[in-house]
Amino acid sequence: MLRKALERVLELPAVYDLNQFIGQPTVRRYTQLLVEEVPLSAGGDVLDLGCGTGATRRLIPGRYVGIDINPHYIASAKRIRSGGEFIAMDATKLSFPDASFDQVISVATTHHLDGEQLQAMALEALRVVRPGGALHIVDAILPVNPRDRAKAMFFRMDRGRFPRKLEDLVSTVSRAADVARTRVLNGPMHDVAYLSVVGP
Ligand SMILES: C[S@@+](CC[C@H](N)C(=O)[O-])C[C@H]1O[C@@H](n2cnc3c(N)ncnc32)[C@H](O)[C@@H]1O
Repeated sequence: MLRKALERVLELPAVYDLNQFIGQPTVRRYTQLLVEEVPLSAGGDVLDLGCGTGATRRLIPGRYVGIDINPHYIASAKRIRSGGEFIAMDATKLSFPDASFDQVISVATTHHLDGEQLQAMALEALRVVRPGGALHIVDAILPVNPRDRAKAMFFRMDRGRFPRKLEDLVSTVSRAADVARTRVLNGPMHDVAYLSVVGP
């Protein structure tokens, strides 16, 4: 019951943003991986799946479209971010035509999706990305060192019900698409994984 109440509070955009602020050590690793791994250019079109209140917008030099299943987060993103398009949409059922974006990113969202949803999101991402592009997944994973109990504990306070070890994340996505590259950054709060996902 306490967990349900906490989850309802976290649904509020302002509380969610505060929570993201507290999680800065993890967010810094998300940013590092996006900047170092995603080919971003001023002329490129980028789709962000599960954009929340649009924190990633600032990293994208070209056209940015963020979608999220929570319409309150989208309303907040439209208010507080400049220069992006924000749309309430389910990442597993995208309404964009095929080959609409140069790159697709997804930050801190896979641990909110069960296996079927994650595979559906990967297939949809690869449908809407142009040839040569990829789905770039960045997310916190269960600690690489299983004795790292403090890191595992952060997931018990998380609304995402599907935290995964790196191997589980890769094998779940691999049932739908090819994982071309992985990278992990270790550090305080969460270990963070990057997956480059491409068409078969
Ligand atoms: C931890 S937040 C990350 C938000 C943002 N990417 C960031 O880094 O600040 C996870 C987001 O995934 C969204 N989400 C969960 N399931 C989704 C789905 N099926 N389609 C789109 N968004 C989804 C949630 O509403 C939430 O905003």
